[in-house]
Amino acid sequence: MFLELNSITKHFGEGESRVEVLRGIDLSVEKGEICVMLGPSGSGKSTLLNIIGGIDSADTGYIAINGEKTADMNEKELTRYRRKHLGYIFQQYNLIPNLNIKENIEVGAYLSDSPLEVDDILKTLGLYEHRHKLPNQLSGGQQQRTAIGRAIVKNPDILLCDEPTGALDYNTSKEILKLIAEINEKYGSTVIMVTHNDAIKNMADRVVKLRDGVIRKNYVNETKIAAADLEW
Ligand SMILES: Nc1ncnc2c1ncn2[C@@H]1O[C@H](COP(=O)(O)OP(=O)(O)OP(=O)(O)O)[C@@H](O)[C@H]1O
Ligand SMILES: [Mg+2]
Repeated sequence: MFLELNSITKHFGEGESRVEVLRGIDLSVEKGEICVMLGPSGSGKSTLLNIIGGIDSADTGYIAINGEKTADMNEKELTRYRRKHLGYIFQQYNLIPNLNIKENIEVGAYLSDSPLEVDDILKTLGLYEHRHKLPNQLSGGQQQRTAIGRAIVKNPDILLCDEPTGALDYNTSKEILKLIAEINEKYGSTVIMVTHNDAIKNMADRVVKLRDGVIRKNYVNETKIAAADLEW
């Protein structure tokens, strides 16, 4: 077992405004799996991803990676866990505006003990000829690819993607999904991808449906489709 979530709960606010956002999440994701997480707006998907990513902490329950509980780690170990194991692709690209494309990706490489070759990544992402441009000189899809580059250059064990195609058109979305599948295949990274797009579940090994802070469905997809063949 690679990633294990055990009875994760999380609330926001206090008193009148208290909301129970996650109400006991149990989930195991195997190494190398693509896990697609669906659920209505406000169901707690990003909150859960942030907790897995160590950006936020759970109220109760624990997360274990290869049997190692993140709660047992001190601040230094937790930082190391984030740097070493996790790549995070946000819906907003969060690129550094005054660094060029190559330098933005190098930021990710700098955080890792075993980074991939930046030039290789630039080529895989179709960004090599744009490497000296600033983010605002690129299209949305190219910026999203840069953000993906920054996350994967670390060669993370787990790639967390929060609506990676949320802001993109159909064709660019498919390109990005193909890329995520390629990275999963090539580097064996485990992928946890949150989306509103129901069709994307077809490229998953595991499908998880969240509603009101609880997992309503969790199943292995027996009829996996290549990202390139998805339609919606
Ligand atoms: N920092 C916060 N403070 C207070 N409430 C929050 C905070 N973050 C999230 N929430 C609340 O928690 C609930 C779940 O939010 P979350 O962002 O996890 O939903 P989501 O499933 O990602 O939704 P979406 O699909 O719209 O992105 C929402 O009701 C939201 O208002
Ligand atoms: Mg969200």
